Amino acid sequence: PCNVVVLISGSGSNLQALIDSLDEENPVRIRAVVSNRAEALGLQRAQAAGIETHVVQHRDFADRESFDAALMEIIDVHQPQLVVLAGFMRILTPGFVRHYQGRLLNIHPSLLPKYKGLDTHRRALEAGDHEHGCSVHFVTEELDGGPVAVQAVLRIGADEEIGALTERVHAAEHIIYPLAVRWFADGRLRLAEQGAMLDGDLLPPTGYL
Ligand code: GAR
Repeated sequence: PCNVVVLISGSGSNLQALIDSLDEENPVRIRAVVSNRAEALGLQRAQAAGIETHVVQHRDFADRESFDAALMEIIDVHQPQLVVLAGFMRILTPGFVRHYQGRLLNIHPSLLPKYKGLDTHRRALEAGDHEHGCSVHFVTEELDGGPVAVQAVLRIGADEEIGALTERVHAAEHIIYPLAVRWFADGRLRLAEQGAMLDGDLLPPTGYL
């Protein structure tokens, strides 16, 4: 099995998609869900699935280093092969990122390297882009800058409203994140020095589309 710990901050719809993807053939075992917000709906989703939950509130810590140290302590109890960021909205310290080097995945709501950071759907619309989407990537010390494993590309409709676009990107996230996690668990996806590799092949900088 592949032990996984999932970090969330909010709704946890990506966590739900991951939970829903599990079956007997899937080696992924979600050992714990950790949230930095006690009100995160994703905590209820985890509990409903019988998964252990933890709340580590960043406000209870003096700085990022001590917050991340508390996170690491909880995570490492489970000896995870993989840590999955699913809408976890805190920037992690270099020490945290190094500790989970090669076993830390994130999903980001844009076609990286475009639109790192926040407000990605609005920025894509305001730029007049014809395409938008989401990316699963390995986390490195560069924020939203690690090698991409897989992307989903959506054509932006004429006069598409931000709400509709946000919803469509979310639906695409729910497809590609369980896929990438499964690849990792099956030993097919890994982080190499030159970038992300799938089945021994170096992926293009934007990952698989
Ligand atoms: C997702 O759209 C994810 O891509 C985004 O937060 C949302 C979480 O939704 N993540 C980031 O913006 C990371 N910087 P969820 O809680 O329903 O999975």
